[in-house]
Amino acid sequence: MGKNKYMVVLEDLVKVYDTGSSRVQVLGGVNLRIRAGQTVAIVGASGVGKSTLLQIMGTLDRPSSGRIVLDGEDLSGLDETALAQIRNKKIGFVFQFHHLLPEFNALENAAMPLLIGRWNRREAYSKAEAILERVGLAERLSHRVGELSGGEQQRVAVARALVGDPELLLADEPTGNLDSGTGQKINELLLELNEEKGLTSVVVTHNLDLARMMSRQIRLVDGQTVEER
Ligand SMILES: Nc1ncnc2c1ncn2[C@@H]1O[C@H](COP(=O)(O)OP(=O)(O)O)[C@@H](O)[C@H]1O
Ligand SMILES: [Mg+2]
Repeated sequence: MGKNKYMVVLEDLVKVYDTGSSRVQVLGGVNLRIRAGQTVAIVGASGVGKSTLLQIMGTLDRPSSGRIVLDGEDLSGLDETALAQIRNKKIGFVFQFHHLLPEFNALENAAMPLLIGRWNRREAYSKAEAILERVGLAERLSHRVGELSGGEQQRVAVARALVGDPELLLADEPTGNLDSGTGQKINELLLELNEEKGLTSVVVTHNLDLARMMSRQIRLVDGQTVEER
C-alpha cells in the first residue's frame, strides 16, 4: 500500500470533448477522494462518463481542467513519459474486452507488462506463472488466447493487470462481456486479490451484486459524482 492516506484525489475535475462540430461536457467539476485500500464501485447510465473518469484517473487521458493527485503526486504538468512511468509502476487496468494479444499464450500475455518493462525474462515468466496460478490458470499457461474460455481470458487479463504489483487497480466493466456465473467468479477473485494485496480498486460496473460488495458506491449523474453508500 502507498505511504499516503489517499490513493486518488480528484479536485474540480472537468472534461469537455470538443470535436469541432460539437462540444460535450462529460465531467462538470468532480471532487473525489479515495483512501488507500478502499474498493469503490462507479455506477451510472451508459454514456454518462464512467469510462472517461476511469481513463483520467489512470493517466490514459487528461482532464480539461482540475487536478489529480495519485498517491500523493500531483499529475498536473507531468509530461507523457512521466505519466507512463507512473502508470506502469502503480496502476493495473482491466477492461471489458481484455485486449490480450491473440498470437501469444496465457503466460506470455500475463508477463507482457514486465517484458515491456525490461525485466529479466526468467523472472518475468516466473512472476506471471505465480499470478496465473493464483487466478486458477496453472493448467493453462501455454494455451493461446483463442484456446481459452471468456472467463479464462478475463482471468489472464486480471493476472496481467496485477503482475507488476500495482497499488491501484482500475477496472472498466470487467464482467460486462461474461455470463453472470463467470462474471460472479471474476468479481469474487477481484475482491480476494484486493484484500490479499492491499490494493485500492475502482471498478465501473453495472453489476449491483459487485457494487454492493465494495466499500463505496458512487454514481455518476450529469457530470457529478453522488455518493450512494
Ligand atoms: N474521444 C471522445 N471524443 C468525443 N466524445 C467522446 C469521446 N469519448 C467519449 N465521448 C463521449 O463522452 C460521453 C461519455 O462517454 P463514456 O465516458 O464512454 O461513458 P460511459 O463509460 O459512462 O458509458 C459520451 O457521450 C461519449 O459519446
Ligand atoms: Mg464505459
